[in-house]
Amino acid sequence: MADVEALEITGGARLVGQVRLTGAKNSVLKLMAAALLAEGRTVLTEVPEILDVEIMAELLRRLGCEVEHDRQRSIVAIDVPATPAHRADYDLVRRMRASISVLGPLLARCGEADIALPGGDNIGSRGLDMHVAGLERMGAAVRVEHGFLHAQADRLTGATIWLDFPSVGATETLLMAAVTARGRTVIDNAAREPEIIDICQLLVQMGAVIEGIGSSMLTIDGVDTLSAVRHETVPDRIVAGTWAVAAAMTRGEITITNARPEHLEIALDKLATAGADIEVHAGEFTVRMDDRPRAIDIVTLPYPGFPTDLQPQFIALNAIAEGASLVTENLFEARFRFVHELARLGADVQTEGHHALVRGRDSLSGAPVEATDIRAGAGLVLAGLVAEGVTTVYEVHHIDRGYAGFVDALTALGAQVERVTASE
Ligand code: EPU
Repeated sequence: MADVEALEITGGARLVGQVRLTGAKNSVLKLMAAALLAEGRTVLTEVPEILDVEIMAELLRRLGCEVEHDRQRSIVAIDVPATPAHRADYDLVRRMRASISVLGPLLARCGEADIALPGGDNIGSRGLDMHVAGLERMGAAVRVEHGFLHAQADRLTGATIWLDFPSVGATETLLMAAVTARGRTVIDNAAREPEIIDICQLLVQMGAVIEGIGSSMLTIDGVDTLSAVRHETVPDRIVAGTWAVAAAMTRGEITITNARPEHLEIALDKLATAGADIEVHAGEFTVRMDDRPRAIDIVTLPYPGFPTDLQPQFIALNAIAEGASLVTENLFEARFRFVHELARLGADVQTEGHHALVRGRDSLSGAPVEATDIRAGAGLVLAGLVAEGVTTVYEVHHIDRGYAGFVDALTALGAQVERVTASE
């Protein structure tokens, strides 16, 4: 038996109060990687205190950067040397797949990059083929050897690239590679997530020339050098959405501040259909629910479609809703793994390929469960908040990767939750 950390939740509390968002995990990691593109000090604000930021900081240090994290002020300062190293080892890449985001910047800045291949993870295959094909189109020589992806190009050349699918990661890699390439790069069928817009805005501040920001066609005219700047990270729409579902499920009332509700339009509309009252103001919104939610169908798609990163949370909501719902997952096939854990709490979910049929139950009952990834962890915590009795969520490190100060925020809203050391 080994001691592990877990979250112990006693269900039944109505969550009421206010939470303030910090920056998005899926933006800040890429902003940190983008810092590599310029020598000197990049300062990022609204940086969330999450494990993935620490892993990215460690990766940047190994590449020769100095990284200071002021947790009190949520600021990270990155000092990038004139010649960074260009190798990302497996020990870090396997802990955080987003390490791959240094590929584009390193290739652009150093003329080469050696990145350990991330391999499989808990939410599906997650290939890199579009990253590689795009870089090759820009003139890079790419090969895989001994578990490493080696990319080399003295200077990349602009090219027109049609992505098969609006991949977030591939759009970011190609964007960061293109900003200092020779000539014009066009990325067609680019991802349009708010986090991509955030990176574009950082790059433009650094001196990059990018047209079509926020659209599915990005046109980038390469410049010779970029300079280090200060930038505020876009607020985390997935954390915001998680709190919104928490309010709806616990029949509570939560005001989410430092938010960009316009980044959550479909998700908030779904909650309104489920019966929640939603009030939107500039930079904040409130979700209130008095009755049992009604079941809602969900189809995940690239932005502005419904985010896959909120799918488990909405399955948790549907599990206690009135009626049945069909949830379709189009991004990550293995994201339904978590329904087996949810079933331990009594949820009635049947999956078939990328569809899940959820039949709402009157109540769930607390049990030990295991988080299989960050969002599965969030979904299980939400289910635990409404389940009768005690739910213990194991593998809490997954949740730590994406939710800053989660237990404190839950407690402040009235939840009964504790971080415990449990035997496994
Ligand atoms: N894909 C390929 N080939 C590629 C690139 C992607 O087949 O070259 C496939 C993937 O296998 C996957 C799909 O395309 O099935 C979507 O991948 P995408 O590149 O869009 O996603 P990602 O960059 O790997 C980011 C977020 C995910 C989020 C997705 C979709 C980060 C660090 N990760 O992943 O966030 O779910 O976009 O919005 O930004 C999370 O935070 O929990 C999380 C998993």
